[in-house]
Amino acid sequence: MSTNRPIAISPSVLSADFAKLGDECLALEKAGADRIHWDVMDGVFVPNLTIGPPVIAAVRPLVATPFEAHLMVVKPDHLLGAYAEAGCQTLIVHAEACDHLHRTLAAIADLGMHPAVSLNPHTPVEAIVNVLDMVDLVLIMTVNPGFGGQRYIASMEPKIRRLRSLIVERDLDIDIEVDGGVSAATVTDVVTAGANVLVSGSALFGDDRGLEPAIAALRGAAVAAQT
Ligand code: DX5
Ligand code: ZN
Repeated sequence: MSTNRPIAISPSVLSADFAKLGDECLALEKAGADRIHWDVMDGVFVPNLTIGPPVIAAVRPLVATPFEAHLMVVKPDHLLGAYAEAGCQTLIVHAEACDHLHRTLAAIADLGMHPAVSLNPHTPVEAIVNVLDMVDLVLIMTVNPGFGGQRYIASMEPKIRRLRSLIVERDLDIDIEVDGGVSAATVTDVVTAGANVLVSGSALFGDDRGLEPAIAALRGAAVAAQT
């Protein structure tokens, strides 16, 4: 196996107070977030409707923390440019939502962003083996997308392991991100399986100690799991 990739914490603002989104993002930056994760839902691919490009663009000047947009959107090609202009560094599309995933990932790269792809719990890693060389990150969903605060699906761990071994086998430079139910209770298992970028919403924003201790604790547990 290759050496471990650096741990990164990517809080999901889906669990933030939308009435003060700018302040919440400033607080995340101050608390040591490595990235900020924007959950973009279209009400079709998932039964919920959330954040569009103008909202992200409004927050962008306030913080320097890199933005990643997780597009839970069917046929997202017409939106890619708008998320680039809004200031996203990484764009994550769902394999299940793209008719021509290869073309979509190439378009994201052409726009100067990091291309990334996400898999729903039911979708096997095999769905993306032919585009692995095009992405900088693969997001393994550990809940069915659509809502924060859902129960972690532990049976995704073999999938994370399988992806990790494919990446190592091919000597690719790809982060493995996990999203859904990531907390103190599950972080050791996801990192042990091979994930290194951790999305967390309800666990971080719901931590009574505050964002900074919550992020530090999650990072500490993740780093410990790698050693
Ligand atoms: C679910 C979203 C997640 C979600 C994570 O569709 O992609 O980012 O907000 O939330 P928690 O950490 O609460 O499971
Ligand atoms: Zn997400």
